[in-house]
Amino acid sequence: VNIILLGPPGAGKGTQAKRLVDERNMVQLSTGDMLREAKSSGSEMGRKVAEVMDKGGLVTDEIVIGLIEEKITGNAGGGFIFDGFPRTLKQADALGALLEKTGQGLDAVIEMQVDDAALVARITGRYTCGNCGAVYHDQTRPTAKPGICDACGSDKMVRRADDNGDSLKTRLMEYYKKTSPLVGYYYAKGQLATVDGLAEMDDVAAAVAKVLDRS
Ligand code: AP5
Ligand code: ZN
Repeated sequence: VNIILLGPPGAGKGTQAKRLVDERNMVQLSTGDMLREAKSSGSEMGRKVAEVMDKGGLVTDEIVIGLIEEKITGNAGGGFIFDGFPRTLKQADALGALLEKTGQGLDAVIEMQVDDAALVARITGRYTCGNCGAVYHDQTRPTAKPGICDACGSDKMVRRADDNGDSLKTRLMEYYKKTSPLVGYYYAKGQLATVDGLAEMDDVAAAVAKVLDRS
């Protein structure tokens, strides 16, 4: 089963993707994580994308399509969760072509609906484990011991460079201008399912599971 998690910044895409990896052995393909990896590697590409990302803009289609192509062609088994990709119509078309080329399909596109006010609270409270990538939140999902990752015990907690008010404004604008048309695009293809992203994390997970089980 291959699915897309679609939604604005802070909708909970990464949180739900990580659960599916644990519970269903699926493969999370987060272009945001891949780009942050490139950024911290200090490569030429990393330096180029960091400037755009930190301000909240979208990286070029060519770069992210290239990253995804590498992962899809290197893993014929599928079971992909596309997290934060596609983000433009061009990326959506490219994904369709890539899946077809590798003999795979797209089983569902899950739109995670949230309201903008909730996103601000989610983004500004978020922190992640710098070692294993587990995602936490100051109010809604704090670590059991302050500053210590529940999953791996690391004390390297980090906050993202783009999780500030100005960058978030730009990220939201980019979402509504360039990514939200994908809702109609996948609806027209008969692939869209919608879940309430404002529900409790477990309830969101149950709604996602329901979509997966009928796909
Ligand atoms: P990316 O890394 O994809 O970030 P994003 O889309 O802004 O999404 P987030 O990671 O911020 O949110 P999320 O939906 O994963 O929420 P999370 O689960 O963490 O992209 C970053 C940047 O990279 C982009 O701005 C762009 O520059 C570039 N980029 C990436 N992909 C690209 C592409 N395809 N094309 C071009 N550029 C690209 O949850 C958020 C918080 O809320 C957490 O603290 C969590 O604990 C909490 N939370 C989650 N669910 C719940 C719940 N149900 N109830 C209460 N709290 C919850
Ligand atoms: Zn950890």
